[in-house]
Amino acid sequence: MYAVNLEPHTPVKKGSVFEFPFDVDEHYVSEMKDRALVLDEDPLRCQSLPHMEAAGWDTLELIMESKAAAYPEHFSLSKDGDKWRWINRPMGIDDTFIFGNTSTLPYGPMEYITRQAQGDFAVLDQRDGNLWMDAGIVTTQADWSLDFDIGMNFFEWHAPVPLAHELGIFKRALKFLLNVQHGKPARRLNWTMTINPRLDTSPENYHKWGKDRLTVTPENVGEKVYLRVELQTFWRLPRSNGLLFPIRCYLISMEELSSIPKWGCRLHRVLGSLPQELRDYKGLTSYIDDTVAWLSKFDQGQETSPGTFPD
Ligand code: HEM
Repeated sequence: MYAVNLEPHTPVKKGSVFEFPFDVDEHYVSEMKDRALVLDEDPLRCQSLPHMEAAGWDTLELIMESKAAAYPEHFSLSKDGDKWRWINRPMGIDDTFIFGNTSTLPYGPMEYITRQAQGDFAVLDQRDGNLWMDAGIVTTQADWSLDFDIGMNFFEWHAPVPLAHELGIFKRALKFLLNVQHGKPARRLNWTMTINPRLDTSPENYHKWGKDRLTVTPENVGEKVYLRVELQTFWRLPRSNGLLFPIRCYLISMEELSSIPKWGCRLHRVLGSLPQELRDYKGLTSYIDDTVAWLSKFDQGQETSPGTFPD
C-alpha cells in the first residue's frame, strides 16, 4: 500500500545510487543519446512556461555544481564572475557561457543541462500553497505525460492515482514538500513494472510498448518482466523558490533481481498482496499472476533483514 515515504537525501553507502546527489552510472552516455532521439521525435517532451526561466538557471547551477564535485574526473565547472566554463568529458562538451543569459547557450538552461543528466525532471513553481508543474523534461516515464500535465497542480496531476487521496497521503506529502529547504533535499522511492528494459513507456508511445504486456508467459517471466524503481528527489531552488523533482529510473529483470534471494522473496510478498486497484493502475493485471507464481520459489516463509540492501 502507498505511504508518505519521504526521508532526507543524504549519502548512504559508497557505490550505491545514494552515494552522490545525482547518480551517474555506466548507462550515462547511452541514456543521453536515447533522450536526444526521443526529443527529436517529440519536442513536447521538454517544456518550460515563460516564468520558469530563473528556475531553469537554478537547475543548471545545482546539477553542474553537484556533478563537478562528485565526479571531477568526468565534469568540471569554472567560474569567472558570470562567465562559466562547463566541461562534460563523457559527452565531449566544453562550453563557455554567461550565467543568466540564455542566448549564450544552445538551448534554454533547463533543457541544456538535463540533456546531460540521467532521469526525468519536473520543475515546480510554488505559489498559492501548491506546486505547479510549469516546466520539465520527461523522456523515460512510467506512463504519464508532461504535455498532458503541464500547468497542473499537485492534486490535479496526482488525480489518477487510486486509494492514496482517501488515505490523506497527498495532503501530507504536499505539506512536506512546500517546506523543503534549500540545501536540505529529500527523497523517496516509487516502483512499478515494465515489460522489456524500455525506458520510454510514455502514453505518447503506448502503441509501441502496450502490447508487450501480452507477450509474458510462465516460461519467460525471468527475462521479460522488469521491476522499475524510481529514485525521486526534491530540491528547493534558491533564486526562483521553485522545487526541482528529478525522477531517476532503474530497471532490473526478474532473473537478475532474484539472484539476490532477499529481493526475490520480498517482491513475491509485495506483488502477492497488492490491492486490485494498484494492480490495475500500475498496468500489471495481465501478467502479475504469472510473475507471482514464478517468484514463489524464492519465498519459503523466511524472515528477511530490514532495509533494501542485499544481506
Ligand atoms: C512535486 C513532486 C512530484 C511530482 C512532480 C509527482 C508526479 C507524479 C506523476 C506525474 C504521477 C503519475 C500520475 C498519473 O498516473 O498520471 C505520480 C504518481 C504517484 N505519486 Fe507523485 N509526484 C510528486 C511527488 C510525490 C510525493 C512526495 C509522493 C508521496 C507520497 C508521491 C506519490 C505518488 C504515488 C503514490 C503515485 C502512484 C505511483 C504508482 O503507483 O506507480 N508523489 N506522481
